[in-house]
Amino acid sequence: MRICVIGAGYVGLVAAACFAEMGNRVICVERDPFRVARLARGEVPIHEPGLEPMLKAHLASGQLSFSQHLAEGIVQAEIIFIAVGTPSGEDGSADLSHVLAVAAALAERLNHTCIVVDKSTVPVGTGEQVAELINAGLDQRGKPFRIAVASNPEFLKEGSAIDDFMRPDRVIIGCDDPVASEVLRRLYAPFLRNHERLLCISVRAAEFSKYAANAFLATKISFINEMAGLCAPLNVDIEEVRRGIGSDTRIGTHFIYAGCGYGGSCFPKDVRALIRSAEMAGVEPGILRAVDARNALQKTLLFQALSEHFSGYLQGCVVALWGLAFKPGTDDLREAPSLVLLDALLAAGVTVQACDPVATAAVAMLYPQAVEHGQLRLSESPYNVVEGADALVLVTEWKQFRQPDFARIRGLMRRPVLFDGRNIYDAQQLGELGFLYRGIGRPGFGHCMARAAC
Ligand SMILES: NC(=O)c1ccc[n+]([C@@H]2O[C@H](COP(=O)([O-])OP(=O)(O)OC[C@H]3O[C@@H](n4cnc5c(N)ncnc54)[C@H](O)[C@@H]3O)[C@@H](O)[C@H]2O)c1
Repeated sequence: MRICVIGAGYVGLVAAACFAEMGNRVICVERDPFRVARLARGEVPIHEPGLEPMLKAHLASGQLSFSQHLAEGIVQAEIIFIAVGTPSGEDGSADLSHVLAVAAALAERLNHTCIVVDKSTVPVGTGEQVAELINAGLDQRGKPFRIAVASNPEFLKEGSAIDDFMRPDRVIIGCDDPVASEVLRRLYAPFLRNHERLLCISVRAAEFSKYAANAFLATKISFINEMAGLCAPLNVDIEEVRRGIGSDTRIGTHFIYAGCGYGGSCFPKDVRALIRSAEMAGVEPGILRAVDARNALQKTLLFQALSEHFSGYLQGCVVALWGLAFKPGTDDLREAPSLVLLDALLAAGVTVQACDPVATAAVAMLYPQAVEHGQLRLSESPYNVVEGADALVLVTEWKQFRQPDFARIRGLMRRPVLFDGRNIYDAQQLGELGFLYRGIGRPGFGHCMARAAC
C-alpha cells in the first residue's frame, strides 16, 4: 500500500519504518527541515533500539522516504496517518493545534480519495472535527468525493517501540466506514499473523480507549505509590507488599512498582487531558485528580529525602544521579522525574554529577548555565559520577545500573549513601557492603514518605 505518515517523532518514525518493513511504500512528512535532512541521510534523531538499521535499510531500498512537503507525501497515498504531537495546553486539555493544522492543510490539498487515520492521542470527538474540516474544504474546492477519517491510537512503548509495533498486543481501529475498516484491517493483517487481536470499534470509542488505557496504568502506579507512603508509618516494606499482591492474577505484576513517579510524553499529559474532558462534560474526575496529584508529589520525594538526610544542609553537597531519561531505553526527557529532582538540587546549591546512557546531550541543552558553571557535570560512566559524591540517587532503572560493582562505588564515594528511586537494589546486600540504603516505601525512607501519605 502507499502510505503517508505525517510527523517524524517517536510514533511517526516507528510507524513509518515498520509499515515499510512490511513492504508498504511510505513517505514520512515532517515540518522540521533539519530533522528531514538528518533522516534523509539515515541519521535517527531519537534513541529507539532497532530503529536506525530498519530506517537505513528502507531508505536504501526506496520503500521509505522523507519530505518536508505535505503535497509530495499525500499525492499517491491510499492511507494518511496523522502522528503529530498533542501536548498539554495551559488548562491541561490536549493541544490539538498540530492535528487541526494538518487537517486544514489536507483540506486544501487533497485531490483524491483516501483514508485519513488519526494516530495521535486525541480527545473524543476529534475524528469528527478532522473529518468535518477536511470534507468542508473538499466541498469548497468542488471535489466530488469525501474522506473517511479513522482513529488508530498507538500503544507502543518507547524503548521497545519497534517490537511493540511489529508484534502488537492488539490494534484498535476506530472507524465508522466499513470500506475504510477493511483497508485498515488488511494493512495490519501481517502484524497480527500469530494472533488475531484487531478490534474494530467506533471512532469515539477508539479515541476514548487510548485515554482510558493510559489513565488506568497511571492509576496503578499512583496507587502503589500511595501504598508505599503508608509503609513507613506501618513499618512495612512495600517490596514485600508488591510481591504479595502481584501474584493475584486479577491485579497482575505490571505497573505496581513503587518509585519516584511516572513521566514521559503520554501518562502525565493524557491524565490531565482526561481530567479536562471530564470537567467539560460536567463529571467530577476524582480518581484522576488524585492520580495526578500523587504523581506530582512522588516526583518531589527524592529531594525531600535527601534534604532530610542532610538535615537541610544541602548546599555544597555533591549528589550523583543515575538515569535521566523518563524511563530506560529512551532519550525522552518529557516530564521526567529526574528534571524535578535536578531543578531542586541545583536550586539548593548542590553539585550534581549525572549519568545516563543516552540522554546527557539533551539534559545539557536544558541546563546550559549549570553545565557551564560546573554545577552540573554529565557523564556516560556511572563510576565517574559517583567519585567524591555524598549520595547516589538511582532515578531511571537502566540495565547498566542493575548490578554495578558496589565495592568499587563505595571506594569512590565520599559517603556511601544510596537513595533508590526505583527499588531495584537489595537492601540487605547494600547494608552489608556498608551503604546507608533507602528505597521508596522501604524501611528507613524517612518522614517525608509518612507525610506524603497524609
Ligand atoms: N511517544 C510515545 O510513546 C507515544 C505513544 C503512543 C501515542 N503517542 C501519541 O502520538 C502522538 C505523537 O507523539 P510523539 O511522541 O511521536 O510526538 P513528537 O513530538 O515526538 O513528534 C511529533 C512530530 O510531528 C511533527 N509535526 C508537528 N506538526 C507537523 C505538521 N504540521 N507537519 C509535519 N510534521 C509535523 C513535529 O515536528 C514532530 O517531529 C501524540 O499524540 C502522543 O500522545 C505517543
